[in-house]
Amino acid sequence: MKVAVLGFGVVGQGVYEMLRTCPLFEAGPVLVRPGKADAPFKVDDIEKIVNDESVDAVAEVMGGVDVAYAYGVKALKAGKHFVTSNKALVSAKGVELDALAREKGVGFLFSAACGGAVPFLHNLELARQSDDIEALGGILNGTTNYMLDRMQSEGLGYEEALSEAQALGYAEADPTADVTGLDALRKIMLGCAVAYDRLPVEGLYNEGIDSLTAADVAHFQGKGLTCRLLAKGGLAEGKLYAYVQPALLPADAPECAVKKNFNMAKYLGKNSGQIVLMGQGAGRYPTASAVIRDLECIRFGQREMLHELCEYSKAENDGCLCTYYVRMPKACVAEFELAESEAQGGAVYAITKPISVKAMHEKVRALRKGGMPIFFAEI
Ligand code: HSE
Repeated sequence: MKVAVLGFGVVGQGVYEMLRTCPLFEAGPVLVRPGKADAPFKVDDIEKIVNDESVDAVAEVMGGVDVAYAYGVKALKAGKHFVTSNKALVSAKGVELDALAREKGVGFLFSAACGGAVPFLHNLELARQSDDIEALGGILNGTTNYMLDRMQSEGLGYEEALSEAQALGYAEADPTADVTGLDALRKIMLGCAVAYDRLPVEGLYNEGIDSLTAADVAHFQGKGLTCRLLAKGGLAEGKLYAYVQPALLPADAPECAVKKNFNMAKYLGKNSGQIVLMGQGAGRYPTASAVIRDLECIRFGQREMLHELCEYSKAENDGCLCTYYVRMPKACVAEFELAESEAQGGAVYAITKPISVKAMHEKVRALRKGGMPIFFAEI
């Protein structure tokens, strides 16, 4: 199978290298930015790929939505299999791409878009055929897990930890989606689409770690707690929920053993019980290996990861109740129903009474608009 690659960044270089060295595949042309085709294997015009009859499949690892979608459509219309590691693309346009791939009788797989090397979507897709998936999620962003690990184990500051994650190739080109939880949210959206045939695009909430300070870390570590960024999705009384938020966990929680750029992806099957998958969730070769895995699945005859009935849908997070740890200025204290609180160094650290995910995220959003610096995490 001859595979063209769209993009030659961190992951693209890994995919190209793996294609060149794996006897099952032939490395095709690599699409780079206009004017950057400085080697014979590079091209800067997508038409040279879609019109090349020797190319069987296209691997998109360039990121972004609009151009990646336009190129994906061109590739599928030209009868080429299409695999992608691009969660922004699949969470926004997955249903359309899946429909076009079906129409053309070619493959559209995207397991590299969720969990890096961890075969989460493949396992979910298999499990949903024989069991009811009650819940799914876990640690789905390698950048923030790496940062949290470095901040909590080594005492690094936020910026230093982020710079390291960028230098190691874990973060997106613009790391905003990583640190705000949007990247993990897109991944849980894909998990819901595979498990429930519903790709939620409304009613979603994501809180990341961009408000976390070294003082917060010192405070909750003093209480024996560790922070992890968790994505959660599932069905509660038939209603789909999906959200991302930090959680403070006791030292014996399995998530605390997840270090560096690793992910821990879980699902709860009605009959299987809890299944846990762990591995590197970000980085050149872990992500490239997932792209190659999808190509290999296509070689073996798999054509889709989404069910043909999958449709865009809404998440309902008002039924999900949590208690939260909140660090806030004194002026915000009256805004929350609190179970306990303590003042320290000009801030108040408090534990809320149970409140819905939706209400908590909306409340903090409104307070931040008024300039209030707040960190919160499920506890
Ligand atoms: N930036 C992503 C992460 C890459 O850190 O998890 C893998 O999807």
